Amino acid sequence: MLIEMPRHTEIFGSVKIHELQRVLKLDSGGFENPRAKDISFGEIKAVLEHLAIIIPIKDEKIHLLDGVLRAIPFDCTVIVVSNSERDAHDIYRMEKDVITNIHNLTQQEILSIHQKDPELGFAFYEAGYDCLLDRDGLVRDGKSEGMITGMLLAKSLGKDFIGFADADNYVPGSVREYVIDYAAGFCMSESPYSMVRLHWRYKPKVVEDRLYFKKWGRVSETTNKYLNLLLSTCTGFETGVVITGNAGEHALTTKLADIMSYSTGYSVEPYHFVYLFDEFGLKAEKIAYSDALTAGIEIFQIETLNPHLHEEKGEEHIKNMLLGSLCTVYHSELCNDYVRSKVLEELGDILDAWERPPENIMMPPIGVIDASKFTKLLKSNSETFVMHEQGSIEDEAKEEEYLKGESFQAV
Ligand code: GDD
Repeated sequence: MLIEMPRHTEIFGSVKIHELQRVLKLDSGGFENPRAKDISFGEIKAVLEHLAIIIPIKDEKIHLLDGVLRAIPFDCTVIVVSNSERDAHDIYRMEKDVITNIHNLTQQEILSIHQKDPELGFAFYEAGYDCLLDRDGLVRDGKSEGMITGMLLAKSLGKDFIGFADADNYVPGSVREYVIDYAAGFCMSESPYSMVRLHWRYKPKVVEDRLYFKKWGRVSETTNKYLNLLLSTCTGFETGVVITGNAGEHALTTKLADIMSYSTGYSVEPYHFVYLFDEFGLKAEKIAYSDALTAGIEIFQIETLNPHLHEEKGEEHIKNMLLGSLCTVYHSELCNDYVRSKVLEELGDILDAWERPPENIMMPPIGVIDASKFTKLLKSNSETFVMHEQGSIEDEAKEEEYLKGESFQAV
């Protein structure tokens, strides 16, 4: 891959945020120039072998999951954490069928679990991590809660890198690129504590019967503005460096995943920045992770070559995502009265139901959890946990079906 070098890096305490880097060529020929870095496929493959891709999913079209699964490079392990319906329609069963079929056809390592599995709740409880449980001892709804589950499974497999891919992507080729972009980011990183966040080149929408290649999503533009304002008011120098505040498509080293705190639901991504600014920024008061402080935390922001075409979830969803995102800024330890007043102005009517921006639920770092013990518990007790290892066809009846040529079709 040939990728632009960052033109500028904003340094805030131990946090280094690299400016946007464009993918110049997905497959390149080893030609380096001062403005671009060439990363060979061999280097990328070496990262992929240590990378797990987590797919959080909730009631998405099964065709979309099928495409996403097929797009993820074979060398990665895939972990599907589903919060899909199991009552009227057992959507999780359909997801499991698709996963088993793809595993049987490809032999790729794929794990899956249902977020509401009581044994998953119990495993978190046993691990002393009950901050994501509801009153019934089940894991709460929420994308972030699914992501944490996936990260623990990835840790138990000894993975060094963890990435995320949404399940509602209409273009499998773009998912493949995202994973390669993650790997490229890690190849460039100089710190074991690093994160790669993707910025889509375009997010196409249908406007008056025509495709319009929009550059910015409504929520992300606003989230970026306030994360930048937070940073600018702290340093005294205006910046626009943050352009991936809501990057659902992101990846991080397991070392960094271990020391991050996580915010609930969709506020998880903007909170990455807020947490890093609070804990490792210029004004950080306590030194909790001295290794990371010394090594520095690197954030890469890569603009993809492919556009992002995904399922639209409606106005209410957008409002909730904006509220969750801006609340992370409002409650940052670094937020001053001026930024708070601007956030309140921005939220306007969305805040009607609250007197002040509600605080998101925070979940502490997962580094303290014994991930092997956690997964062992699931292996022996969970009804929904499935672990398809590389190179094993578990379902003999299905194998016979394939050998006869009756290939699977997503319905
Ligand atoms: N396991 C699990 N549990 N997955 C969930 C849950 C849940 O409770 N809720 C949603 N998901 C899955 C969805 O099925 C999808 O695969 C992914 O999480 C993202 O959810 P969407 O509802 O599709 O979000 P979006 O497309 O509006 O927003 C995405 O992009 C934003 C940036 O533009 C998300 O990734 C956001 O987090 C991101 O900020």
